[in-house]
Amino acid sequence: MDLLPEIAQRVSVRDFTDEPVEKGAVERILEAGRLAPSAKNRQAWRFIAIQNSDLREKMESACFGQEYVGAAPLIITFCTTNIEYRMPNGQLSYPIDLGIAGSFMSLQAVREGLGTCFITTFDESDVKALLTVPFSMRVVTLLLVGHPRSVPEKPGRLPLSRVISYDHW
Ligand SMILES: Cc1cc2nc3c(=O)[nH]c(=O)nc-3n(C[C@H](O)[C@H](O)[C@H](O)COP(=O)(O)O)c2cc1C
Repeated sequence: MDLLPEIAQRVSVRDFTDEPVEKGAVERILEAGRLAPSAKNRQAWRFIAIQNSDLREKMESACFGQEYVGAAPLIITFCTTNIEYRMPNGQLSYPIDLGIAGSFMSLQAVREGLGTCFITTFDESDVKALLTVPFSMRVVTLLLVGHPRSVPEKPGRLPLSRVISYDHW
């Protein structure tokens, strides 16, 4: 199957070297998120890029001490700037919008030769306090980014026949 290599190669990395992520790569990764689609093109998001080591350590504490959080040289935090907008199907748009932006950024990071890991195991109120996120907004996910020290094997997926159907459930 002729897939984008970034999709085939991407795997969650939880072991990073100390090497910082080069400025150009940081900017291209963030740009990939900026270009992502969102419901009604509302772009109701803010991406906070964290590289300061003291703040990364504090973020690690807000993530219940998961060591690989503070070890990642770049932590991108995906925040809402609106939590109310519902799409015509009645569902909230922000988890979808931010999830798509996260996908775009993670694939750009793979293109840059970097590893990533989404992190949702965090205390949201602690993260909000650390990053001065307004009380009424949400922090949806974090994306760790860095140079992999080791890359795990890609976990398996359900076969196509289990997850795809044509024309009916
Ligand atoms: C929405 C979401 C939340 C996740 N939260 C965490 C997390 O809190 N901690 C963690 O170590 N990995 C987290 N992951 C990574 C998943 O465990 C990982 O993507 C999954 O096991 C599949 O492995 P792969 O990414 O290597 O293909 C999360 C992934 C997603 C998509």
